[in-house]
Amino acid sequence: MKIFLDTANIEKIKEAKDWGILDGVTTNPTLVSREGKNFETIIREILKVVDGPVSLEVISKNWEGMVKEARKLASYGKNVVVKIPMTVDGLKATKVLSSDGINVNTTLIFSPTQSILAAKAGTRYLSPFIGRLDDISSYGMDLVRDIIQILENYSFPCEVIVASVRHPMHVLEAALLGADIVTMPFEVLQKLVKHPLTDIGIERFLKDWEKLKG
Ligand code: E4P
Repeated sequence: MKIFLDTANIEKIKEAKDWGILDGVTTNPTLVSREGKNFETIIREILKVVDGPVSLEVISKNWEGMVKEARKLASYGKNVVVKIPMTVDGLKATKVLSSDGINVNTTLIFSPTQSILAAKAGTRYLSPFIGRLDDISSYGMDLVRDIIQILENYSFPCEVIVASVRHPMHVLEAALLGADIVTMPFEVLQKLVKHPLTDIGIERFLKDWEKLKG
């Protein structure tokens, strides 16, 4: 399973990279706006640090605008993936961009049938938003299960990015379903490391070691 960080914060990205487990990064306009810096500065900082795919989102609503923005974003680096929302214009833009060899991440997917259309338009990544479905009393992980099944049925060459992840159980369930990628906030990644028995174990080993010295 590949681990992406869902953030535009360069310090968090650098820290996760130092852990040796970072495969890529996803951003969105909300995450970028939290950094209070110029968009281009943020992009350049992230691309300097991350070797894997970095998703950057367009803000245009019509396909022509999306394509124009996407081409500019793609020019920042070979590993840029353009995030396009799951709309009719998004599908049109995806068809054009994927035919040009630009990788697209279809974002804001909330139904399995949306994923069929995005896959047919040539997207490289499908991003179902799990937490936002859970927020409205729908079982988000069912969507991931359905999408994985559909991709398998038709051998669509897309990868699933489990997005809108809120806690470690989302990561566990995604891994059990065999999702290709989970993108998560740094805070969720930190929680994956921790187990109280690990801390207690270390403390006990060190205490026993001290006895030996005495
Ligand atoms: C994914 O690509 C999105 O950036 C993200 O996961 C959205 O998550 P949220 O529902 O926590 O905003």
